[in-house]
Amino acid sequence: MSSTLNHPTPTTQDAATGTRVPNRRRYLMCRPDRFTVSYRINPWMNPDDPTDTSLAVSQWEQLHQAYLDLGHRIDLIDPLDGLPDMVFAANGGFTLDGIAYGAKFTYEERIPEGPAYMDWFEANGFRVERPEFVNEGEGDIMLVGDTILAGTGFRTDPRSHDEVRRIFDREVVTLNLVNPSFYHLDTAIAVLDPVAPADGSPANIAYLPTAFDEASNRILEQRYPDAIHVSTADAAVLGLNSISNGREVVIAARAVGFERQLRERGYTPIGVDLSELLLGGGGVKCCTLELRG
Ligand code: ARG
Repeated sequence: MSSTLNHPTPTTQDAATGTRVPNRRRYLMCRPDRFTVSYRINPWMNPDDPTDTSLAVSQWEQLHQAYLDLGHRIDLIDPLDGLPDMVFAANGGFTLDGIAYGAKFTYEERIPEGPAYMDWFEANGFRVERPEFVNEGEGDIMLVGDTILAGTGFRTDPRSHDEVRRIFDREVVTLNLVNPSFYHLDTAIAVLDPVAPADGSPANIAYLPTAFDEASNRILEQRYPDAIHVSTADAAVLGLNSISNGREVVIAARAVGFERQLRERGYTPIGVDLSELLLGGGGVKCCTLELRG
């Protein structure tokens, strides 16, 4: 596991990247004590295939430890009976400026997670905004620098994008997802720079172009001319579903091409294996909800 924060190793530098500066973040996670695949709401899930809950827990613990090693603050929400997908905390809401916009899930199986997460936000000092429209939290609503990218096509209702714009008073850019395997925005886009780098370059992303329609591809090309385009193979192990502090990027260990691309840009990838949670259609980012106070 990386200990580069205590003993900084020089990151690859070139004119484009400069020196990468990591920053500490605060995340909410949920232990997968209740994880299994008992229904199918995305193409990754096969209720007939066995799952190993204790393996899911031990893999999740490695992710949790990776964040602690990077100096992040982790809060935990208690897993609830009958909610096997609650481990995917990213879907529990979207937080910014001390405000938590609650989730309203698409599928009945996950609907009770919305209020459970809103209760947690309320008990932990966030002002909760109850959603009118279907949205799956940070799974489809992602902050890149000062801009909010918002996905739609499979889960989140585009009318929730207007709610987000009104509540947070930020620019919200709607993106259309078209491939059912990449049903949430955070399976198709990785935020590489949670805040814009100090050298004045815009916060950057990585993405899978074929996950988006043509109009959205044009928007992404125009806004992020330096973005990393990942291969289908790397996206297919949910490689994009990752968490960056602006320097270290926690990714699926199996996304070896993306790992190389990150190194070339001066980031330090940290691979974790969440193969068991992949059976539910989730990866690193899905297990992680950023708390922005
Ligand atoms: N089984 C979950 C679902 O289909 C996986 C959620 C993954 N979460 C994410 N942020 N992409 O809803």
